[in-house]
Amino acid sequence: MTKRQRRLRTKNLLNSNKKMNRTLINEETTNLQQRYLKAFIERYTKRTETSKQLTQTYRPVLANSRASFGFCLSIKEILYPIIGKQAQGSRMWDVDGNEYIDLGGFGVNLFGNNPPFIKEALAAQLEQGIQISPQAEFAGEVALLISELTGMERVTFLNSGTEAVMTALRLARSATNRYKIALFSGSYHGHSDGTLMIAHKGAENPRAVPLARGISSNIAEDVLVLDYGNFESLEVIKAYASELAAVLVEPVQSRRPELQPQAFLQQLRELTQESGIALIFDEMVTGFRIHPGGAQAWFGVEADLATYGKIIGGGMPIGVVAGKATYMDGVDGGMWNYGDESYPQAKTTFVAGTFSKHPLAMAAARVVLQHLKSQGSGLQQQLNQRTSQFVETLNAYFEANKVPLGVANFGSFFGPVLLGNATSNHSTVSENIDLLLYHLLAKGIYLRGGCFLSTAHTDEDIDCIIHAIKDSVEEMQEGGFLVDSYS
Ligand SMILES: Cc1ncc(COP(=O)(O)O)c(C=O)c1O
Repeated sequence: MTKRQRRLRTKNLLNSNKKMNRTLINEETTNLQQRYLKAFIERYTKRTETSKQLTQTYRPVLANSRASFGFCLSIKEILYPIIGKQAQGSRMWDVDGNEYIDLGGFGVNLFGNNPPFIKEALAAQLEQGIQISPQAEFAGEVALLISELTGMERVTFLNSGTEAVMTALRLARSATNRYKIALFSGSYHGHSDGTLMIAHKGAENPRAVPLARGISSNIAEDVLVLDYGNFESLEVIKAYASELAAVLVEPVQSRRPELQPQAFLQQLRELTQESGIALIFDEMVTGFRIHPGGAQAWFGVEADLATYGKIIGGGMPIGVVAGKATYMDGVDGGMWNYGDESYPQAKTTFVAGTFSKHPLAMAAARVVLQHLKSQGSGLQQQLNQRTSQFVETLNAYFEANKVPLGVANFGSFFGPVLLGNATSNHSTVSENIDLLLYHLLAKGIYLRGGCFLSTAHTDEDIDCIIHAIKDSVEEMQEGGFLVDSYS
């Protein structure tokens, strides 16, 4: 055997020993994890048995994507929604009588659950009845309040965020007479066909493909899906400028709160302005949460159109499109007066909805906006600062204890950040995060439907949440989870 052959044989032996050790460690970890998971599932399902039982009872008739989203055999037994019974302030109770500190709610409850001033406004409107065909009494006042707080010229109402985005795109297309739109990977703009698109990987030109079955690829022809915050995307927009009706942005994506690209947004504003492309800010989450004037005020960027919903509905379904008259006049033809020769001059498109300007939604929105106006930006400033402090405490704990997790916030919404080599460990990290959320549910912290702090959360609530997170992490680590180093 030559020297070289001997060296190779030693190297191979060492490698195979390493591989064997790794396999043994993995098997041990897997056994530990499986035992731990089994015990946890037993605990969790016992605590929430009515939610599980009701989900199964009605599954034959209730087609419910939330009851099977993220299906995975290993956690099948705990895959069911928590069914809510009651909610008040920072708290929520499920059908099993468990009490939770509620951080979810899809970002609707800026003032916590069931705040007395909204409850009273809704009760008063119920007394008056629900007139659907005549215009709701408060619609004009609500439009004025939105215009005052956001600086947008004109406002129209729909029933959901999805409808608002769909309508904003139609208004942009109608005003520009162009049909392509650009949006960004990682953004969510609701569930209409036109925005459920992802980037076509490997395509030479930026192409979109439908994100789900049932969406026509013809619709994708009109969509570019670009990289968010990446200045190269601006070059693509420049190249397609003459075809683009709109660029649609979720200024800070719910899925990536750490990405807050102010310079990118400012340059995007300049570019779209020069090219006559409508810049649409989807402020469904950021609107009224980060600042009374939303992400536009925060970043110092004035969009042409903005979409809102969630918070201003005070718990009622609502969607809002607001923007410059040039675009908004597509709803009704624009301004005209009685007693003179004026008439609606702008070209219109089609905007409608049986339940748009619903009296209950308008009654709730009116008091929400009045409340926001009277409190001023101090309300958001204080809440943003409390959330940042909370997030800093958590990150310091994760770092000190080498927990491969991080949290980021944009004002009062926060979310997990993937650390280290996010691509190779992406699924493990997401699975661990998912399991952590289940642990928090088991400890009475409700974090489904996003992570949002409200003005109803007290310092004691925040301490409670921090303790629950620390305890959950420790338990999971004992069970073999959250121990990988992702650096
Ligand atoms: C940024 C954004 N746009 C649009 C939507 C859609 O709103 P809705 O669920 O009210 O249709 C959402 C919903 O979460 C959202 O976060």
